[in-house]
Amino acid sequence: MKTPVAIVGAGPAGLLLSHLLHLEGIDSVVIESRSRAEIEATLRAGVLEQGTVDLLAQSGVGERMKREGMVHEGIVLRFAGASHRIALTELTGRAITVYAQHEVIKDLVKARLDAGGAILFEVKDAALYDLDSPSPKIRFHHERQVKEIAADFVAGCDGFHGVSRPSIPSRHRHEFTRTYPFGWFGILVEAPASTAELIYAHHERGFALVSTRSPQIQRLYFQCDPQDELKNWPDARIWEELHARLAGADGWKLAEGRIFQRGIIAMRSFVVEPMRYGRLFLAGDAAHIVPPTGAKGLNLAVHDVRVLAAGFRDYFNTRSEQGLKGYSTTALKRVWRAEHFSWWMTSMLHRFHDDTPFQHRLQLAELDYVVSSKAKALTLAESYVG
Ligand code: PHB
Repeated sequence: MKTPVAIVGAGPAGLLLSHLLHLEGIDSVVIESRSRAEIEATLRAGVLEQGTVDLLAQSGVGERMKREGMVHEGIVLRFAGASHRIALTELTGRAITVYAQHEVIKDLVKARLDAGGAILFEVKDAALYDLDSPSPKIRFHHERQVKEIAADFVAGCDGFHGVSRPSIPSRHRHEFTRTYPFGWFGILVEAPASTAELIYAHHERGFALVSTRSPQIQRLYFQCDPQDELKNWPDARIWEELHARLAGADGWKLAEGRIFQRGIIAMRSFVVEPMRYGRLFLAGDAAHIVPPTGAKGLNLAVHDVRVLAAGFRDYFNTRSEQGLKGYSTTALKRVWRAEHFSWWMTSMLHRFHDDTPFQHRLQLAELDYVVSSKAKALTLAESYVG
């Protein structure tokens, strides 16, 4: 096969890139190791920045999101037993939309397939070749055959564990990592919403987050040991822990319901520089990871792809390489901003195993500052809405 842009990975980055290129009249082929059913069911985050929402809507894949997504104009920080609202929209003029990542995936897959786009699912053993030549290639197994794609460019959108980043020789990669000594225990619950806006809770037993998926389904998380196992957490213990961390003098109470999905998520910060090697461009989680506390992962992937698609458009329309040459620098600027924000939110809200009472008091002092100073609240709000 031959294609202008070969895209590794059918996550939000790869699918959106393929879609944006299509709107510019540029062909691409997407390869994906999992099945369509799997990618459409993989549970990830659910907060879309205004800029992400606008891009999806402008590019014609926002219809269901506009209908089913829930617009939130604020978030709540809960600490020392009381809730404090950060008025995102009042402070910044922008809002966030709660719409699950796998719903974005479904919308993008449908748009690509309806337009006759090529997505090869269940591809095995993909390997990238000749990345520093004018004709990079990908070879893989698909439907019991060995296939090869020759492309002008390869977009590595295959996530943190994908083949794209390790295909860059290590001397051309600078990697920055921070692993956090905790994870998130996440559950999906059949219950009505207990709160109109997301609650980020600081507690001496650890962080908790109350999010939502629909008026009938709620998404809850609490900080846990990353090595912990699901079998250690019967339902009663989960509810006990959540109630303890969300308790307050105001009497607000989380509604319980049937837990129908559970999982433990590791937390890390990671960046690779540059996000390009020869004719390979990395986008999304292949290039960077943020802890979920700032809700930035999907939004960063969308920003990468917006910049990358513009670079490809200029290249294929006018043979100008300016945009592609600037891609890594432009994308990394926003990546590091989001890395800082996610690290800051994580550090302010979680319990660290080596915490001293002094550090605990510092966290409370900072939270108190955030909710009582307009300047500090704006700092949080403008990063949160993007
Ligand atoms: C989610 O709903 O999955 C969610 C919301 C906010 C976050 C992280 C995850 O910061």
